[in-house]
Amino acid sequence: MEKLQAAIERARERRQAEAPKKAGRVYRGPAVLDPGLWDALPRLGTPPRTLLRNRVFVDNKTREATYFDKLRTKILQQCRDHGWKRVLITSATAGCGKTTTSSNLAASFARQRDRRILVHELDMRRPEMARIFGHKASAGIADVLDGTAAFEDIAVRFADNVILSMNQGPHQNPSQILLRDSTPAILDEIEGRYRPDVTIVDSPPLLATDDTQSILKFVDCALIVAAAEKTTTSEIDNVEREIAEQTNVLGIVLNRCNYMDDDYGYSYDYPG
Ligand SMILES: Nc1ncnc2c1ncn2[C@@H]1O[C@H](COP(=O)(O)OP(=O)(O)OP(=O)(O)O)[C@@H](O)[C@H]1O
Ligand SMILES: [Mg+2]
Repeated sequence: MEKLQAAIERARERRQAEAPKKAGRVYRGPAVLDPGLWDALPRLGTPPRTLLRNRVFVDNKTREATYFDKLRTKILQQCRDHGWKRVLITSATAGCGKTTTSSNLAASFARQRDRRILVHELDMRRPEMARIFGHKASAGIADVLDGTAAFEDIAVRFADNVILSMNQGPHQNPSQILLRDSTPAILDEIEGRYRPDVTIVDSPPLLATDDTQSILKFVDCALIVAAAEKTTTSEIDNVEREIAEQTNVLGIVLNRCNYMDDDYGYSYDYPG
């Protein structure tokens, strides 16, 4: 475990020594947000017990919610300082907690009403978010990127200021979709209209498929989720290097620190 923390510390020092790889993002589209666009999206009415069962913490008095609120604040600070708007959530291998983190960030932003946030589930192989939020639909964000559905028809609001675009099941050709030039163009167009302060992008594990390599090209920065007792120091080094070749590393979240003196086991590491 000390080794993992040492790897995270080394990664932090490397990041501090480097200049940002990508400049801030400027939205194209109408100069003024049309609030009617947000109002027109259907509201999710997920029962709190479903969220809790799926480890999404909506009660702001819980210790777990406080962890994610701190993470939200760190992300907002980094994005504001660098002009970043699109944040990838990734990990080395499967099951480290990316979707749990993305979903809890949605819940945390719902507690901060003065910021608008979009969450895209770009894991088209093992999507989990629709199950976590108890949402059933006939299409998802993969279909929007594939040109067979409209964003307005698949996007839902978790809160006034939080939009989720999820997938209902595995898609047939995620690699092809993610390699198309039209994919970042569609995401740009959506952000140009809905004007979120931050877009969170959930993704498959970086070392398992090519999908996340493709996604790295069109995000401003990436947050690495590492699982204590599971992620190895060399995996952290590899993931950090692969991300740094294409975009900025925002930080590393250490998940599942069950031996720590808290119930949930999250700790964070950020540059600066
Ligand atoms: N801190 C934690 N403590 C206990 N269980 C956790 C924790 N974080 C996540 N989990 C559980 O671990 C499982 C995997 O989490 P999650 O789906 O978020 O991982 P993932 O990185 O998105 O996986 P995949 O690579 O398959 O997309 C889920 O059942 C989730 O509820
Ligand atoms: Mg996942």
